[in-house]
Amino acid sequence: MRALSCGVAVLLLTGVMAAPAAARDPGAEELSITKSSFGTVGSQPVDRYTLANHDMSVSILTYGAIVQAVNVPDRRGQVANVALNFAAISNYTRNGDYRGSIVGRYGNRIAKGRFTLGATTYSLDINNDPNSLHGGFEGFNVKNWAATPVRTNKTVGVKLTYLSKAGEGCTQTRPSTPPCSTGYPGTVPVTVVYSLDARNNLRIDYVATTDKPTVLNLTNHAYWNLAGEGSGTIYDQELRLNADRYTPVDATLIPTGALEPVEGTPMDFRSFHSIGERIRGNFEQLVFGRGYDHNWVLDRRPGDTTSLSEAATLTDPASGRVLTFYTDQPGIQFYSGNFLDGTLYGTSGRQYRQGDGLALETQHFPDSPNHPNFPSTVVRPGDTYKTTTVLNFSTDRRRR
Ligand code: BGC
Repeated sequence: MRALSCGVAVLLLTGVMAAPAAARDPGAEELSITKSSFGTVGSQPVDRYTLANHDMSVSILTYGAIVQAVNVPDRRGQVANVALNFAAISNYTRNGDYRGSIVGRYGNRIAKGRFTLGATTYSLDINNDPNSLHGGFEGFNVKNWAATPVRTNKTVGVKLTYLSKAGEGCTQTRPSTPPCSTGYPGTVPVTVVYSLDARNNLRIDYVATTDKPTVLNLTNHAYWNLAGEGSGTIYDQELRLNADRYTPVDATLIPTGALEPVEGTPMDFRSFHSIGERIRGNFEQLVFGRGYDHNWVLDRRPGDTTSLSEAATLTDPASGRVLTFYTDQPGIQFYSGNFLDGTLYGTSGRQYRQGDGLALETQHFPDSPNHPNFPSTVVRPGDTYKTTTVLNFSTDRRRR
């Protein structure tokens, strides 16, 4: 009976008919989901859901909707966790680097924490002086989400929900300079579903609505190190970005509004380059970011704003691990872990230092609410905010 009602929920959720058994992916019968306790935050229990297939597993926390571990094999079958993490919930609650979490309401920066919608100007926490970053002092990354396991005949997953109330983003208990007064408008129910299939695709589906016009930009902030968390820097790992242009920033990392060609600059990742190759040059953008901390404008076919297309591929030549991102979003923030500071430990027990992991955050462009020429991040009552990113894990024995 329980299985039946779960099956019905899945049908409603995905809107697809149940496929006959013959249409299952090979390996789908080995998909599993397990739940364990990951401690408490205040009086609230935090759970960890582990999704697994024949090759790999992904652990997700209800706190922050955090990707806490991604265990994948290298080209010889040696499994390592490639997502920077912590072993204990107390570290996550004290941490300021958004490690593994869903960031919102607005992933990335909003200049001076201010934006205008209609006749009203809204003000936000200044938590990254002089700007607002990743939803302010208390973004989605520090909320405990409600979770339900979900299954289809091709995937296993966890559905996380959080109700973001009007006024979030201006934290009453943490005054900032200048002070904020409004926070984000609108009450916004958010759903994030992480699901894993038998082909090593980790899919992230985001859905949200609002009761007042607002802005929304959700992303996942995992830091990757394909050689294994705690194994050293990512400077020898190689990246390819499907982008002819990027959005240059000022010294506070707010876009100037221009879309500049990458051609002839260290921002050109149209073919594979190691992260370390050009990172320490005197190119002004890299000086501003203390390394890479920029948004690339993803190439798309003209008029196509919705289909999933390849955004980025990261490879580790030493282990052979490959991670490919597909998204329907217009941009990707590549952050080379410039502020990881040697004080924060992962489960490997090793201190993370600058460059020990990198984030690839599929998203709308930073500070879009203040740049009318950027794709809009406004969501209105009656709209459904809906976006998907798929992360495929493989090794260079199988592709590249
Ligand atoms: C930003 C960085 C910031 C980091 C915080 C990234 O998304 O682009 O500037 O330092 O998040 O962890």
